[in-house]
Amino acid sequence: MTPIPQNKPHPSGDNRFKLLDRAITKHQANGDALIEILHAAQGIFGFLEHDLLIYISRALRLPPSRVYGVATFYHFFRMKPSGEHVFVLCTGTACYVKGAAEIQKAVEHQCGCKFGETTKDGKISLVSARCVGSCGLAPVAVLDNTVAGKLTPEESAKRVAHWQAEKKEVPA
Ligand code: FES
Repeated sequence: MTPIPQNKPHPSGDNRFKLLDRAITKHQANGDALIEILHAAQGIFGFLEHDLLIYISRALRLPPSRVYGVATFYHFFRMKPSGEHVFVLCTGTACYVKGAAEIQKAVEHQCGCKFGETTKDGKISLVSARCVGSCGLAPVAVLDNTVAGKLTPEESAKRVAHWQAEKKEVPA
């Protein structure tokens, strides 16, 4: 597959696909790396939705049934987000060296739950990912659909607090 130039938005308008493209390119679009690529996709998007699985099946030239089969077989793949918001923290080597552990602590403290869990009110899911492909911006997190680089623990806790302060929309 042809990598998308860094400075151009992804044709889908969702730049998380650029990160996914990088993970696919890293594995040379090899179908044998399907599990690795599904892990990367879940790390970037927080869960594996229908369109994402189709995108992966096309990129790897695998039948969608195979991709679905693998994604639904393993319990560690999620097909739906559990929280309203998803904070995906990259804990790959570059991000770890640049302070991902401090971010993890600050965010867990702010949320009152651990990575891999969702807050009791169902508002925020904390997910950790291996390298999401933006090591130059380490430490990196994907906040809902936005990639945030060079994060600090303070900034991360502030972003989470902002989600917590959001009021639930009451239907009219
Ligand atoms: S290690 Fe975090 S983006 Fe690569």
